[in-house]
Amino acid sequence: MALQGLLLLPVLLGAGAPLASAARQPALWPLPMSVQLSPNLLRLAPGSFEIIHGPQSSAGPDCFLLQDAFRRYREYVFGYLKSPDQYSKSFVGAELQQLLVTITSDSECDAYPSSTSDESYKLIVQEPVAVLEAREIWGALRGLETFSQLVYRDPYGAYLINKSEVIDYPRFHFRGILIDTSRHYLPVKTILQTLDGMAFNKFNVLHWHIVDDQSFPYQSITFPELSNKGAYSPAHVYTQTDIKLVLEYARLRGIRVIPEFDTPGHTDSWGKGQNDLLTPCYKRGIKIDVFGPVNPILNTTYEFMSKFFKEVSKIFPENYIHLGGDEVDFTCWKSNPDITEFMKQQGFGQDYEKLESYYIQKLIDIVSSTNKGYIVWQEVFDNEVKLKQDTIIEVWIGPSYNLELQKVTAAGYHAVLAAPWYLDYISYGQDWKKYYKVEPLDFSGTESQKDLVIGGTAALWGEFVDATNLSPRLWPRASAVGERLWSPANVRDLNDAYERLTEHRCRMVRRGVPAQPVFTGHCEM
Ligand SMILES: *[C@@H]1O[C@H](CO)[C@@H](O)[C@H](O)[C@H]1NC(C)=O
Ligand SMILES: *[C@@H]1O[C@H](CO)[C@@H](O)[C@H](O)[C@H]1NC(C)=O
Repeated sequence: MALQGLLLLPVLLGAGAPLASAARQPALWPLPMSVQLSPNLLRLAPGSFEIIHGPQSSAGPDCFLLQDAFRRYREYVFGYLKSPDQYSKSFVGAELQQLLVTITSDSECDAYPSSTSDESYKLIVQEPVAVLEAREIWGALRGLETFSQLVYRDPYGAYLINKSEVIDYPRFHFRGILIDTSRHYLPVKTILQTLDGMAFNKFNVLHWHIVDDQSFPYQSITFPELSNKGAYSPAHVYTQTDIKLVLEYARLRGIRVIPEFDTPGHTDSWGKGQNDLLTPCYKRGIKIDVFGPVNPILNTTYEFMSKFFKEVSKIFPENYIHLGGDEVDFTCWKSNPDITEFMKQQGFGQDYEKLESYYIQKLIDIVSSTNKGYIVWQEVFDNEVKLKQDTIIEVWIGPSYNLELQKVTAAGYHAVLAAPWYLDYISYGQDWKKYYKVEPLDFSGTESQKDLVIGGTAALWGEFVDATNLSPRLWPRASAVGERLWSPANVRDLNDAYERLTEHRCRMVRRGVPAQPVFTGHCEM
């Protein structure tokens, strides 16, 4: 057999046989906390190399999450090549036979990732068996990604890996991508592809801005009319089955799914399927056929919200729900005589922010009673709504976001930064550099204030984005944010990043995520 393999090799090469599905260089992205590569190379044989559970691991073959990841990463490394090992004969050297994956703590394989998940891991690549050790399954997922990024191919097609040692954990534990499925509906397939891209970049939060003014694709069990009337069409909905599919696909990649149901503004689509939820607007004292934000003065509003969020809290396993609270337009509230009367009764004067706070306060009590924590956009904090101390404030208004981070953390709240990472704003050239150069902790404050910044989100709002352009617009631009949030603060060299990102982008393309080019050049396929 070996002889046959050797004889075949030149013939195949001479015939210009397609080579490679892996890179020509190890290209790590995001760069680990600590990595030492030695000049010693090992060879991997695609037909026999295995990823298996270590004998000491607390997880075994019944851990579906890891079994699925082992399969996935074998395929990412070798493509779908099953046995022909002839290419690897071009390199004569020691062979790496196995990767042993060991989970050291009692880890639940059926669990969902959470804000306290441990993503740290240690990877030692040595002959004949490499070792990946992680406290939890989440760290093993990150380590498998890194392992797959270390493998590359020589010009003759042999699969190689440098002997190496990687010790890694994220700098920030909240690393999000925002998708918007209201401005345009995104097919489930597109969402799953986004989750793949997130795993390749070690993102761990999908911020699902699921509904907004334009459409209401979430199919509620309690209030089916919301999507019946509020979705673009009966086909543009997420059924409960669709949602379960997204949740499980994300879980298998260590990704939390945080849904956002933004109120009291951004709610036009809610009003179509739920009478009396929105505020009727008036023009010169006469009611017109236009509606404003959620009506904050009716008891029925809060009865509806209680039932709705009770459902949402059961459907989404995540401990946090995003409640929105941004950009409330007061014009309609101002025009409505019933609201004016209510403002008078409550002693709010002309301060409509007080009315907004009144609403959000009641909503927060409702959501807290379901035992969920919540994330809100920064206006809710700016308008001095009373918040639980573990509230997460998402800072989105630029360019003075560092001042806002300073204020939010001085008040003792957790902050997530999105302002400098609005990827829906596009421009000519390599704008990834702009995203890359951001330093989230660059504001004046104490060490304990800085500890309250738990991470950031790259936001791809959907006005100009649907399934046709989401992936190339998101990747590799969001990759810059991914490295900023995972790697040490001093990983800032743009030239080095450019080299790695160029290769990383090709790798994403080879793995089925159509990321746009970084600049001129070509990918080894
Ligand atoms: C990996 O090994 C090759 C072959 O010895 C060497 O040329 C290369 O510099 C090594 N990579 C690193 C980052 O040390
Ligand atoms: C709304 O609820 C409050 C408190 O439960 C109650 O006092 C009030 O009468 C209710 N209003 C209406 C219109 O039912």
